[in-house]
Amino acid sequence: MTPALEDLFAVLRFPSISTDSNHASDVRACAQWYVDKFKSMGLSVELCETAKHPIVLAKNEPVAGRKTVLIYGHYDVQPVDPVELWDSAPFEPVIKDGKIWARGATDNKGQHMAHLLGVEETIKEKGELPVNLIFLLEGEEEIGSPNLPGFLEERKEELACDVIAVSDTGMVAKGIPTLGYGLRGITCCEVKVNGPDKDLHSGLYGGAVANPATAAAQLIASLHDSEGKVAVEGFYDEVEPLADWEREMWSQVPGVSESDLLEVTGSPAVFGEAGFSSAERLWARPTCEVNGMWGGYQGEGSKTVLPSYACFKLSCRLVPDQEPEVIIGRVQKHLEAHLPTGVTMEFTPGHSGKAYVADPHSEAGKAAQEALEEVFSRPPVLIREGGSIPIIQSMKEILGTDTLMLGLALPDCQIHSPNENFTVENFEAGIRLSKVLLEKLGA
Ligand code: BES
Ligand code: MN
Repeated sequence: MTPALEDLFAVLRFPSISTDSNHASDVRACAQWYVDKFKSMGLSVELCETAKHPIVLAKNEPVAGRKTVLIYGHYDVQPVDPVELWDSAPFEPVIKDGKIWARGATDNKGQHMAHLLGVEETIKEKGELPVNLIFLLEGEEEIGSPNLPGFLEERKEELACDVIAVSDTGMVAKGIPTLGYGLRGITCCEVKVNGPDKDLHSGLYGGAVANPATAAAQLIASLHDSEGKVAVEGFYDEVEPLADWEREMWSQVPGVSESDLLEVTGSPAVFGEAGFSSAERLWARPTCEVNGMWGGYQGEGSKTVLPSYACFKLSCRLVPDQEPEVIIGRVQKHLEAHLPTGVTMEFTPGHSGKAYVADPHSEAGKAAQEALEEVFSRPPVLIREGGSIPIIQSMKEILGTDTLMLGLALPDCQIHSPNENFTVENFEAGIRLSKVLLEKLGA
């Protein structure tokens, strides 16, 4: 074990699950580890309280005339259930087959620890950094960063920077350096379809009152047409067509062919909006996905019951120019208009965040491309991401700064799933990448 791996293991041992209030003290203990670490590196550091989980903010002594770089990451993680599907305990990291196995290994502790450790190495080797550095770690990314925009507003001047670097996204394939210049946005909701005021005998009453589970299924089915397009009126109104250069560039990107997708997803077939490649469907088209649905009897065997209610959760992925509140409003209107007779509906909007897109060929974008090429010995591919990190667009709006997304997550890293992992190779490459990146950005 190298000292770098020991530090990573130390943070991976904190079960910093932000969504679960039972883990609030673990989230805080994890934040405190970073405070102590940044101090030991000679940076000034502050544990910033929020209404929920703390933010860790560390800085070097600024030098006038130097570029200011903000590195963002999140130390909170997703829940681990179903825990029985893990081959080793999620918060007891192990190295096996060249990979670090633990919740948060890739999303996001492994990726931002690579930056932190790169910074530490540079300070040790050179006595200083080539840039004015602001390191910002939050503990609420996985719950939609409810308190970070307010914090950015409050500390706008203090957080002013020339460029933001984030490793919290993907590499299209092993060994293929990837610069992300876009993210999809997101907007979520939960729907409850109500019928009778209690579960009923399905023989005594079935056929004479509406079944809320059937109604929920009809609502869900109404969301798409047979060609995979979202059928919500106005859903695509603000969506810009893809630029030719992006279509052309993405057609050359490895890792997103039909066979790649079948392998990594385990699905029997690919499917999506007609007229678009998988890369285009993932990175530049909006979607409306059912994340869960329930209602009625879920136990063993049969129970002849007509359920009192049925529920489902939806999340829409958004592309630039789609306003989350507008889109979720259209979805609500669609559901209300398609609600079958005999039931009522409760609609609860959830968290949301806008899409993001930047120019990958900006000065900083070029520096990032050079750094990726130097570390991975081949030029990077330029992609937009299907996933969402809403705070990146918020940082653009509040601080006015663009973000470089230097993805280190591999397609089989299993973030949010059992057996999340991060290759030791990418962890070590990430440390080198952070060093080279700061050098290039500071030049
Ligand atoms: N790091 C991910 C997002 C990601 C992963 C983007 C891989 C691109 C490639 C982030 O932690 C995440 O999971 N975001 C959530 C959104 C959030 C509001 C809950 C997502 O995309 O579902
Ligand atoms: Mn995540």
